[in-house]
Amino acid sequence: MPSQKNIEIIHYHEETKHHFDRYAKSPGYMDWENQPDPFRSYENTTVFPLPLLKEDPSVGYQNLYRRSGKSSQPFTIKNIAGFLELSLGLSAWKAAGTSRWSLRMNPSSGNLHPSEGYLIISQTESIAGGVYHYNAMMHSLELRAGVSSALWHHITSHFETEGFLIGLSSIFWRESWKYGERAFRYCNHDAGHALAALSIAANLFGWKVTYLNGFSDEAIEGVLGLNQEGYHPLEKEHPDLLCLVYPHQEKTISRSLPNEIISALIDLPFSGNPNQLSPQKIDWEIIYKTADLTRKAMTAEHIFNYGNRSWFTKSTSQFSAPEIIRKRRSATSFDSNGSVTRAQFLSMLDKTIPRNTCCPFDAGLMHPSTHLILFVHNVEDISPGLYFFFRNDNDINAIKQISKPDFMWEQVEENFPLFFLKAGNFRQDAMMVSCHQEIAGFSAFSLGMISKFRDVVKKEPFRYRHLFWETGMIGQVLYLEAEAHGVRGTGIGCFFDDDVHDIMGFKDNQYQSLYHFTIGVPVEDPRLTTYPPYFHLKGR
Ligand SMILES: Cc1cc2nc3c(=O)[nH]c(=O)nc-3n(C[C@H](O)[C@H](O)[C@H](O)COP(=O)(O)O)c2cc1C
Repeated sequence: MPSQKNIEIIHYHEETKHHFDRYAKSPGYMDWENQPDPFRSYENTTVFPLPLLKEDPSVGYQNLYRRSGKSSQPFTIKNIAGFLELSLGLSAWKAAGTSRWSLRMNPSSGNLHPSEGYLIISQTESIAGGVYHYNAMMHSLELRAGVSSALWHHITSHFETEGFLIGLSSIFWRESWKYGERAFRYCNHDAGHALAALSIAANLFGWKVTYLNGFSDEAIEGVLGLNQEGYHPLEKEHPDLLCLVYPHQEKTISRSLPNEIISALIDLPFSGNPNQLSPQKIDWEIIYKTADLTRKAMTAEHIFNYGNRSWFTKSTSQFSAPEIIRKRRSATSFDSNGSVTRAQFLSMLDKTIPRNTCCPFDAGLMHPSTHLILFVHNVEDISPGLYFFFRNDNDINAIKQISKPDFMWEQVEENFPLFFLKAGNFRQDAMMVSCHQEIAGFSAFSLGMISKFRDVVKKEPFRYRHLFWETGMIGQVLYLEAEAHGVRGTGIGCFFDDDVHDIMGFKDNQYQSLYHFTIGVPVEDPRLTTYPPYFHLKGR
């Protein structure tokens, strides 16, 4: 029997579906007076400005994901700052007329950036040991609480490795200001993108990011100081995750901390007053209720085995790994004649498969639960039509059984889990299901991410958020893969959920479409001017 909690989470999901004739509840207009500040800062804190990278790590494209065998870089301020710059830092400023806005290494629905980053480090050169908030705009660390070397010693002794902790939180109001009730989904997509961005940036320094899956949300909240006074109503940060960043090694690390260390961190004297983001806010109650229902309790630590499937293709790129990260952008329109090659297409899909020794999925979030339904429009040597890509073999039979009986399920390549379902021109269907957005139909291909849903949420309600994180991580890989191959991608959060299920023939919520993505040859907008990411910090 489904629990009440589970029923209410599914209710949120149903309520926030977009339908052809009815969108999920939102303000329906842009209240510019109350637009939330996309940057959080803590006033009355000691601030440590971080250096900007003078030279990027010299790492090739393949090593975005693959462990390079290169030795781990020391945990210096320069390297930690570089890791933050290449994961959560600014990537550019754009301007049109009198408006100017910043972009970041990690994408965000509506560019609203609900995710905030926190660091817990030991004394590092001139930076005191402590719990810090990362201010992306100023590329600085704001000290929220000091951590003594004795406490830090307990932390490293427990993990049996040096390194530091990184945390993420979400400010729901930033997204709900524009998107209303569906915003909870977008915040979680963004958290997944940010987690993948952290994992990939760490790999450039020979470090590994592991998700500490034993932690409860309550503990994360306390450890990061998010339970302190001073947040304006509806501007509190919801705890998402805590990860350990450490020298890459084969050794398995613990996924939590002992209670006495967690308590010692929670009891630290925190300082700093969070800035106010908007004068007035709307309380989208269902978001806060669903956040409560999906709160994670302390759990046993899990180690997921993703296998070591070898790469299907040996792809190359003319760009280095940091170049790809820095040039990542969302396409706003595509050339409908633009194509990608068959090899590029297969290479992009291949990178979304989790592997034990490849980031970002080796961060160890969950058992892989998401697959891809593909609308192939213009891929050389691949017939246009509908395809399905399995990210693991466990769901093959279940999905085949509940899909339309006339699908061909013809395997495209031996030893590669891509199946041809139906030939045809799916440009109109792809656009239609993605809220009529041309970017889904004018690209080389677009896709929906189909996640194992009902049973996953029923068994562990907090996985509702994790499913969105997983789709965000896949999206981050696709963004980078597109750039690596000289094309461009865009995440698509606006889609008609049930119309995607109709295309597959799904009749219930055993599997649900949680996120869309599109990749093709971009058409640049000539009205936009681009400025360097940190031109406002000249001289740093
Ligand atoms: C979860 C998510 C959903 C998004 N949904 C859409 C969408 O439906 N349509 C669209 O044009 N762009 C969408 N985007 C792209 C964002 O608008 C884009 O990331 C943001 O404007 C920042 O630009 P950048 O990606 O170039 O840094 C989405 C991005 C994310 C991460």
